[in-house]
Amino acid sequence: MSGFTLETPFAMKGLQLRNRTVMAPMCQYSVTKKDGIANEWHYLHYTSRALGGIGLIIVEMTNVEPDGRISDQCLGLWSDDHIPALKRIVDAAHAHGAKIGIQIAHAGRKAQDAVLPVAPSAIAFDETYKQPRALTTEEVKQMVKTFGDATRRAVEAGFDTIELHGAHGYLMHQFHSPRTNTRDDEYGQDLTLFGREVIAEVKKNMPDDMPLLLRISALEYVEDGYSIEYGIELCRAFLEAGVDLLHISTGGEGTPAPAKRPKLEPGFQLDAAYAVKEALGVPVVAVGMLDDPQFAADALASGKTDLIAVGRALLRDPYWAIHAIKETGGDFRAQVPKAYIRGY
Ligand SMILES: Cc1cc2nc3c(=O)[nH]c(=O)nc-3n(C[C@H](O)[C@H](O)[C@H](O)COP(=O)(O)O)c2cc1C
Repeated sequence: MSGFTLETPFAMKGLQLRNRTVMAPMCQYSVTKKDGIANEWHYLHYTSRALGGIGLIIVEMTNVEPDGRISDQCLGLWSDDHIPALKRIVDAAHAHGAKIGIQIAHAGRKAQDAVLPVAPSAIAFDETYKQPRALTTEEVKQMVKTFGDATRRAVEAGFDTIELHGAHGYLMHQFHSPRTNTRDDEYGQDLTLFGREVIAEVKKNMPDDMPLLLRISALEYVEDGYSIEYGIELCRAFLEAGVDLLHISTGGEGTPAPAKRPKLEPGFQLDAAYAVKEALGVPVVAVGMLDDPQFAADALASGKTDLIAVGRALLRDPYWAIHAIKETGGDFRAQVPKAYIRGY
């Protein structure tokens, strides 16, 4: 038992959260001009969750290259032109007591609007996706630098933390999954090399007291997908490379095998988060149908996770954190904006 509740503050390095709730990154597909620049929608969307009492907002998958996006409607960080609109969001989140990070990513073979997507190896996701081209060794090295450049811009925008997207079958996941990385250079001989180099490069561009998060699929669901044991070894390698906090998700690499298809029930990824936490003694963020307040509070109290990330429920209710803290008997008033207190 941890003794933690949803309203227990959390601190890691220079990051201090008012409570243990996290807004999971969720693509909005709402960029209007193909330029990757955040607009009024993103500003209102993230600011309203800050007003809603969330401890840490993680801005959606934000990509290091125009062709590294799932769609042309996704956010980007490939140019300094992206910084001002993101800074406006960061400042608003801070004004309302939330901390805010950003998920830095490249979609790799899942970049659906790219004319020719790139990937570790020329293996398509499935017959409905484009056939990707394998990156050359030189291009992989350049890609590592590109992640560093995007991080420098995120830090300039004022984000409190960086999350690397190493989950759900996107580029970093493609490099560390044996099914999608069949390269014969050094990045194929050691499947963690790309991820470890990205982590090192990103950290060069972050202040020392800023924690680095990594979102990872701790196991795969396709027929020959990797196991949780392999996922734990990946996490071990990435922690040694400099990750501070692991955000544990699963799957996304392909169509699940019928026998492996996850049962979509409350906390369906919680055991994976706990397995990583227990094996490596590292703080974790759990995610996946954790929006029932009592279920989430119990998951924290049991010590299976250090933080609770919520996705879809926050699309339905921007005030989920306040409501969940209230429902589980916490001091929710501390999280309610002053102007709204009479609503309670
Ligand atoms: C609309 C939508 C967009 C998403 N976009 C992202 C994303 O950008 N990055 C990511 O890692 N996961 C993404 N996810 C997955 C969520 O972060 C989360 O892991 C998932 O929804 C499970 O949590 P939930 O049951 O609380 O919704 C997305 C999910 C939804 C519903």
